[in-house]
Amino acid sequence: FYRAAASPPSSNFLLLGPSGAGKTAFTTLLEAKSSLASKTTHNTHTSQVSTLITVTLPASVPTASNRYRSVNDPSLKEASRNPIKYRLRDTPGHGKLRASQGIAELQTMASSNDSKNKLRGVIFMVDTAALVDEAVLRDTATYLHDVLLILQKRSLGKGRSSTKRATEIPVLIAANKQDLFTALPPGSVREKLEAEIDRVRKSKTKGLMDASMDTADVDVGEDEVLGDDDGQGVFSFKLMEDVGIKVDVTGGAVKGESQEEVGSGVRRWEEWVGMCL
Ligand code: GTP
Ligand code: MG
Repeated sequence: FYRAAASPPSSNFLLLGPSGAGKTAFTTLLEAKSSLASKTTHNTHTSQVSTLITVTLPASVPTASNRYRSVNDPSLKEASRNPIKYRLRDTPGHGKLRASQGIAELQTMASSNDSKNKLRGVIFMVDTAALVDEAVLRDTATYLHDVLLILQKRSLGKGRSSTKRATEIPVLIAANKQDLFTALPPGSVREKLEAEIDRVRKSKTKGLMDASMDTADVDVGEDEVLGDDDGQGVFSFKLMEDVGIKVDVTGGAVKGESQEEVGSGVRRWEEWVGMCL
C-alpha cells in the first residue's frame, strides 16, 4: 500500500506590522502548536530577515469550504488525520527593513499568478498598548496605508485590464497584546488607525497636488489615493470594501495570563485564517 506524500501547502499568508508588535512571538507560538513536540517558546528579538513557516490549522477551526463542521462530523476526524496546513511569512517590522522586505514581499506575492503560491491573506499586527504613543500611531498608520494602497492598486488594476477580477486578498488587523491593562480595545484601535490613515492620506494627496502644479495637471490619479472617494471624505476601512479589500480588526494576545478569556488568545485570528482557506 502506497500513500502519496502530502503535497506542500499552497496557501500563503503574509505577516506584516511595525517592530515590536509581536509577529515573531505569534509565529513561534503557531510553530510550537503545530509540532507534536512541545517546544519551549524562547524570547524573541528584533527580526532582520523574513522567515517562512508551515502551520497546521487546528482541526476545530472551521474553514470557508467546511464552514458547518460540527464536533460529531466525521470530516472532523478526517481533518485531524489529514490536517489543513498553510504557510506564514514573518517579516521584520523595522522601518529601515520594510521597503526591502515586508513591502517587497507583498508586491511579489500579490502580483504572482502562480496558483501554487497564492497569497490568501495579509495579517497586519499591531501592539495595542503602544498605539497611545503619537509616534507609534503615525508609524503604524503609515505602514498600513502603504500596504492597503498596494492591495488597492492590484485590485483595481486587474479589474480593469481583464474581465476576470483579481481574487481578493483580505486584511486582518490583529490587535495584539490585549492582555495588557493599558491595551486599547479593538474598537478604538480601528478608530485611531482610521483617523491617522486619513491624515496620512491627506498629506500624501497634498504632496501629489503640489508636485503636479508645475505640469498644470491637477488631476491626482485615483490609483494614488487610498479609498474610493478621491480622498474627499474621511477615511474608513469600509471604504476599502468598495475597492474589493475586506479589512477586519480583531483583538487577541500571543502572551498573557488568561488567554482563554482575554481576547481569546490567538483563536480568533486562526478562525480568520480558516475563513480564507
Ligand atoms: P520585529 O521583529 O522587530 O518586527 O518585531 P515583532 O513584531 O516580531 O515583535 P516580537 O514578536 O519580537 O515581540 C516583541 C515583544 O512583544 C516581545 O517581548 C514579546 O514577548 C512581546 N509580546 C508579543 N505578543 C505579546 C502579547 O500578546 N502580550 C504581551 N504582553 N507581550 C507580547
Ligand atoms: Mg520579529
